[in-house]
Amino acid sequence: MKNIITVILLSLLIPGMSFGADEHNHDGDKKTVAVEALSPDLRILLSREMQALQSGMMAIIPAYISGNWGEIESIAGKMKRSYILKQSLTDAQIKEMHTILPSGFIEKDQRFHYLAGMLEHAAKAEKPELINFYFSEMTRSCASCHSTFATHKFPALLPREKDPDHRH
Ligand code: HEC
Repeated sequence: MKNIITVILLSLLIPGMSFGADEHNHDGDKKTVAVEALSPDLRILLSREMQALQSGMMAIIPAYISGNWGEIESIAGKMKRSYILKQSLTDAQIKEMHTILPSGFIEKDQRFHYLAGMLEHAAKAEKPELINFYFSEMTRSCASCHSTFATHKFPALLPREKDPDHRH
């Protein structure tokens, strides 16, 4: 039922959005507004999850350089499970997230959690090269979501105009 509502709501939202890689700033502004339109409670939860993710990523470095694969497996597992859309949110909050956040956000969130799961596997298998690979894919996925949905927090990630002749 929740999924049906989500699909309906997203199909209402999608026609107004574009998913191109080289989006212009005015489009980015709309997406930023989406996050800023969340209720204060949800925004606090999102912020907390972000800070937890950042601590997790930072704690992976000392574990990696000392060969502490078990520690990486445990951190990656926590990041995978921290899935904000699966946390103990109330039904109303879940609905709010799906209504307000564009599907592009949800896809990037899913991609991130997929990568955390892969990192967990790589650590379990004690494969340093793979751990390194997924760790760097994860940092890319952080920055990729931020450059679309969090430029109000990280303005340096705003896309630069690539073609100065192309104006609206
Ligand atoms: C699916 C999108 C998405 C992904 C993936 C994502 N972030 Fe974020 N992040 C956001 C948004 C949106 C904000 C701004 C939240 C706000 O303004 O309330 C944010 C804010 C932050 C902040 C500032 C939090 C604060 O309010 O103090 C940090 C730190 C952060 N992210 C770290 C990370 C790290 C590290 C990763 C990857 C391991 C990551 N994020 C992955 C969307 C994402």
